[in-house]
Amino acid sequence: MDVLFVNIKELLQVRARDVNFLSGAQMKELPTIKDAFLLVENGLISDYGIMSDCPTVAIKTVDAAGKMILPSWCDSHTHLVYAGNRENEFVDRINGLSYAEIADNGGGILNSAKKLQETTETDLYNQSKKRLEEIIQLGTGAVEIKSGYGLTKDAELKMLRVIKKLKENYPIEIKATFLGAHAVPAEFKNDKEGYLQMLITDILPTIEKENLADFIDIFCETGYFSVADTQLILEAGKKHGLLGKIHVNQFNAIGGIQVGVANTVLSVDHLEEMRDEDIQALKNTQTMPVALPSCSYFLSIPYTPARAMIDAGLPLAIATDYNPGSTPSGNMNFVVATACIKMKMTPEEAINAATINAAYAMNVLDKVGSISRGKIANIILTKEINSYNFIPYSFGNHCVDKVYLRGNEI
Ligand code: NIG
Ligand code: FE
Repeated sequence: MDVLFVNIKELLQVRARDVNFLSGAQMKELPTIKDAFLLVENGLISDYGIMSDCPTVAIKTVDAAGKMILPSWCDSHTHLVYAGNRENEFVDRINGLSYAEIADNGGGILNSAKKLQETTETDLYNQSKKRLEEIIQLGTGAVEIKSGYGLTKDAELKMLRVIKKLKENYPIEIKATFLGAHAVPAEFKNDKEGYLQMLITDILPTIEKENLADFIDIFCETGYFSVADTQLILEAGKKHGLLGKIHVNQFNAIGGIQVGVANTVLSVDHLEEMRDEDIQALKNTQTMPVALPSCSYFLSIPYTPARAMIDAGLPLAIATDYNPGSTPSGNMNFVVATACIKMKMTPEEAINAATINAAYAMNVLDKVGSISRGKIANIILTKEINSYNFIPYSFGNHCVDKVYLRGNEI
């Protein structure tokens, strides 16, 4: 699609095409052009600049007076393919049960797995596509989606096939992650090793053959999977061409970050419990730390210590964690606002964390995450706002007027 945006009040996140992720003090800078134009040709950003340099072309023109344009949000961590919801557990938590107690009583991930196993692939697709359509309207233009609520060969592959179908049917960038090691299912209660072997020898070869995943993930946590299990899964994933990601340091710091860094995983996600040695381990590495502020909000657990991490020179990305248990919301606008309000990130840091750094965390930085010539024109046109600080300021609301994927208004 070809389209020319004119009179843009401010064009945000304008960068050279080959920009890499931002660390430490770099995150405070958000390059913009005021009174700008943006030219989209064949779904790609072909040019931009100040209005006085705007070309005259006979294509569809959108007057963006009073409005801003920024690259779509990249949500590098979701579980948005799931069956049913868990609002009963939400009420149980209000009434005093902890997230861990609910999981120990057969709720939690195992509850979602049971529902998903009983749901047909068509029904699962239909439930999931609604969530995908909803986040697209909220300004997300790239999303990573995990398996991990199947926990049997059939159900894990069902989830991954649903993700593949979403990839085929929607114009948004989608990456798939195999998270078989999300919890030990009841059938393997006393045989975690057996379960891991089943994932490795039975499921991974099919995933490779059918090209069903880009990444591999594991829940490295006390009571779930150990550091040694994490090493095993990351190595197995690597053999099948899958880059690593880890759910780590959510409730306990047990050394998962160190094993992630040693395996050059793409990202380490959650990080609510960070020791100084964990921050040090991430310095000068290619591994992106990812915070999930709406999970902290919903579970009332600590927020990732973003300030300490960025001030120590680390990069940081932010994502939703959209899932039925710990974060039943895929709203990146809320994530950006919460990062500012609760984690004391500046608006520039939060926008960088939700675009460039998030694109890196899901390996799509060559295609999206910034306004750069040659990148895909997945963009947000805001409502009329005074400054971009209004984006996180207007928490619980959002500033998205229109979204464009590959230059097409959605
Ligand atoms: O990222 N922590 C592990 N997994 C999910 C939540 C799982 C659930 O409660 O369904 C998360 O928060
Ligand atoms: Fe998660």
